[in-house]
Amino acid sequence: MMRKICVLVPLLLLLAVCGQVSVLRTENFLHYRSNFWSWKGAQAHCRQKHTDLVTIGGEKENQDFLYSQGWIGLYRENSTSNWKWSRRDEIAVFTNWESGFPKPDQNCAFKYNITDKWESHPCDHKHSFMCYNEKLVLVKKNKTWEQALEHCRNLEAVNSSEPATAFRNHRYDLATLLTLDDHVYAREKAKGATTNEVWTGLRYLAGQWLWVSGQGVVTYKDIKSCQTQRYCGILVKNGTTLFETSHCKRKINFLCSRKP
Ligand SMILES: *[C@@H]1O[C@H](CO)[C@@H](O)[C@H](O)[C@H]1NC(C)=O
Ligand SMILES: *[C@@H]1O[C@H](CO)[C@@H](O)[C@H](O)[C@H]1NC(C)=O
Ligand SMILES: *[C@@H]1O[C@H](CO)[C@@H](O)[C@H](O)[C@H]1NC(C)=O
Ligand SMILES: *[C@@H]1O[C@H](CO)[C@@H](O)[C@H](O)[C@H]1NC(C)=O
Ligand SMILES: *[C@@H]1O[C@H](CO)[C@@H](O)[C@H](O)[C@H]1NC(C)=O
Repeated sequence: MMRKICVLVPLLLLLAVCGQVSVLRTENFLHYRSNFWSWKGAQAHCRQKHTDLVTIGGEKENQDFLYSQGWIGLYRENSTSNWKWSRRDEIAVFTNWESGFPKPDQNCAFKYNITDKWESHPCDHKHSFMCYNEKLVLVKKNKTWEQALEHCRNLEAVNSSEPATAFRNHRYDLATLLTLDDHVYAREKAKGATTNEVWTGLRYLAGQWLWVSGQGVVTYKDIKSCQTQRYCGILVKNGTTLFETSHCKRKINFLCSRKP
């Protein structure tokens, strides 16, 4: 009974950098202007070095690409299939075709830098392209906190000529949520999880709660009655608190974040 109560006590975090804008919400886009590759080649490059070819989710985002020219992440298998985004093969809801497009047997999407409209082109044409880096990643796999940490750290290498390991060269870590907006954004992301709670990178070590990424110590309200060593930080999908804790051996979904 005691333990149960203990788990439910929310950590009242004093955010170190209150009021700062989110560092996680903004994805950064990279425009490969002087590489001219087929759509598949561009996709492979983006997936290897970054997250994927860009996804354009709506009118506002589309304006961010107004002056960019090249392949975007939209494709279809053939003239009768749905248009999907390369990232997660999601069926496209927002599209912005130039009139007369898409054309039959042109199954990859391209945009010119003089318009916000898109065109279909044959996928083997060679074009410049746009990749993006996702800073906060929801992993819909059920893992213990330790396994989740390892998964995040293996996602991508800093130096791509060497493998990423749990000890060095990793680009991602279990999520560090520093600003209030990071929390808001993390909760939005967590809505897509298959579990009601997701792991964050918060761990109790050597008498204090800290971010595994090494981005600082977290001040919290007294929860001494807990067996804190065996507890790790979670974000509750439909919750209202910044953080809660849960037994580290539970297997749930988790959030990874890209290191600065
Ligand atoms: C088109 O692709 C779909 C999958 O998206 C497939 O089921 C269908 O058989 C394909 N049609 C042709 C004509 O190849
Ligand atoms: C559009 O792209 C072309 C070809 O890469 C380039 O020469 C031109 O300067 C670009 N224009 C703008 C407005 O970025
Ligand atoms: C993870 O656990 C949830 C809740 O128990 C379950 O609904 C979901 O299918 C599991 N996901 C995987 C990938 O095993
Ligand atoms: C990346 O790793 C390769 C292979 O070990 C090494 O030669 C190269 O210097 C590294 N690059 C950077 C920027 O550290
Ligand atoms: C959140 O969801 C869980 C499981 O669906 C439910 O038991 C709980 O009451 C919900 N909490 C809130 C604050 O809505």
